[in-house]
Amino acid sequence: MVASSWLSRLLSSSHSLQSFSVQISTRSLSSLSLWTLFLFSPLALADCECGYLSTVGDGVGNSQVDTSDPSIWRQTPSDSSNLALFTDLLETDFTRVYSSGNRYDVSKDTDWVPQAFNLTKERARGEWGEMFDVRNVFSYPPNKNRQSQPGEDEMKWGPKHWNSDDKATGLKLVVRSDVVDGMVPVAEVATRRLDFLYGSFRASMKISDIPGTCAAFFWYFNDTQEIDMEFLTREFNRENKTFPINLVLQSRESALAGHDASGTGESNFIHTNLPFDPTLDFHEYRIDYLPTRVIFYADGKPLATMAASRGAAVPTSQGHLILSHWSNGNPLWSGGPPKEDSALTVKYVKAYFNSSSETRQDDWRARCQDPKAKGAVCRIPDVVPGDKTAVDWYFKFQGNMTNNQTMSSEPEEDAAVRLGTAGRLAWIASVLAGFVIWVNVL
Ligand SMILES: *[C@@H]1O[C@H](CO)[C@@H](O)[C@H](O)[C@H]1NC(C)=O
Ligand SMILES: *[C@@H]1O[C@H](CO)[C@@H](O)[C@H](O)[C@H]1NC(C)=O
Ligand SMILES: *[C@@H]1O[C@H](CO)[C@@H](O)[C@H](O)[C@H]1NC(C)=O
Ligand SMILES: *[C@@H]1O[C@H](CO)[C@@H](O)[C@H](O)[C@H]1NC(C)=O
Ligand SMILES: *[C@@H]1O[C@H](CO)[C@@H](O)[C@H](O)[C@H]1NC(C)=O
Ligand SMILES: *[C@@H]1O[C@H](CO)[C@@H](O)[C@H](O)[C@H]1NC(C)=O
Repeated sequence: MVASSWLSRLLSSSHSLQSFSVQISTRSLSSLSLWTLFLFSPLALADCECGYLSTVGDGVGNSQVDTSDPSIWRQTPSDSSNLALFTDLLETDFTRVYSSGNRYDVSKDTDWVPQAFNLTKERARGEWGEMFDVRNVFSYPPNKNRQSQPGEDEMKWGPKHWNSDDKATGLKLVVRSDVVDGMVPVAEVATRRLDFLYGSFRASMKISDIPGTCAAFFWYFNDTQEIDMEFLTREFNRENKTFPINLVLQSRESALAGHDASGTGESNFIHTNLPFDPTLDFHEYRIDYLPTRVIFYADGKPLATMAASRGAAVPTSQGHLILSHWSNGNPLWSGGPPKEDSALTVKYVKAYFNSSSETRQDDWRARCQDPKAKGAVCRIPDVVPGDKTAVDWYFKFQGNMTNNQTMSSEPEEDAAVRLGTAGRLAWIASVLAGFVIWVNVL
């Protein structure tokens, strides 16, 4: 007990140490924090150890959860209708400002990977090819005190040269107006993890008002197992206030129809209008991928449900998440290229999901001792119009609600910088101390 209270003092003595341990989870660190919690509160190992509970479908926004009281989110509800439990999470705040003053920087994030590949116009099925270029994916505004000098390319295309009126903060995915070598320069970023098997995926985005691009938030396994939310900026009509969104399950049928899901019927393709202008502000777009149905939402309000029982091609595989902003000149879909450089801005992605990885499933089984224990299951707050609480809520910034969750992350550069050598030694010592205590307890 003496050693463990020393350990707890060490752990709580420095805020940076704590955030460091939360952000950069390692095997020893996870068991360390689990054991520290265990020693002090034997009834509950850690908050959310059994997962994250989401309201789904029409239940969203109608639940009795008071989102102003975070403690209530940790309660396990007795009624399980309209609820789905997910064991894993990946949350990214693309607008994060660290205490050092530095901002989130996608080039340092190991969760999200900007994509680089070229498509010929034949492959792109448009009038132009597409050049997915990492220079079109950047964090905005840029950090002031960058360590590396911007390269020549960045001088031309990087965030410092974003000469648009669109100054919204977040991750920018830019489609350029100038065609290069027969290709429209476009942008895409994807999760490194490929193990999203069912989940509730939420992205806060502001869509460009420049006609001629397709902005997409989607889950992808292969061309016939894909769930899309797609915005065609040419379809927006401010005069008659029409702002359509395309909700798509790519299926075998759509593959046969040349990937034109619009020909595969209402069960896999829905063209519906948003109740707001998506170009004026950020809104949360959400996909719930459940075993027999897919539900699409805007700001917590269901837009459509596609159910396997009604012929929808609900995927059955694990997959990953992608944000994409593209154009190939196809007048039937993206149109374009846009007349000016055009950006999709992403404020956050929050993904609560089950993993197809056996290691992750074993981890969950090992840490979830008793789902009925207080705090073992955490409720995910619903985003509802007019309530910003859930928008600003991240489990990962609570310090104690994402045990054994951070597989990889943007580096918590503050902590790493401020710790210095002495701090790092203390940190190693605390890990070793945790190990010693762990062995002793056994
Ligand atoms: C999760 O925690 C278990 C121990 O509780 C550990 O064996 C495993 O490596 C951890 N997994 C990750 C991804 O941190
Ligand atoms: C996710 O996995 C947990 C643990 O196996 C399970 O209880 C839950 O029902 C799964 N969620 C979905 C939506 O399938
Ligand atoms: C894409 O095409 C451009 C222009 O032809 C070329 O510079 C670039 O290297 C290509 N990118 C990839 C990933 O092949
Ligand atoms: C996608 O994956 C499913 C399941 O493995 C498979 O049946 C289907 O043929 C694949 N589609 C393509 C286009 O490869
Ligand atoms: C608004 O105008 C577009 C054409 O620009 C048309 O397709 C759409 O049906 C109109 N919507 C309404 C509600 O009138
Ligand atoms: C978790 O951390 C938050 C602050 O980040 C605190 O308010 C809450 O009491 C903590 N919960 C537990 C069970 O330690």
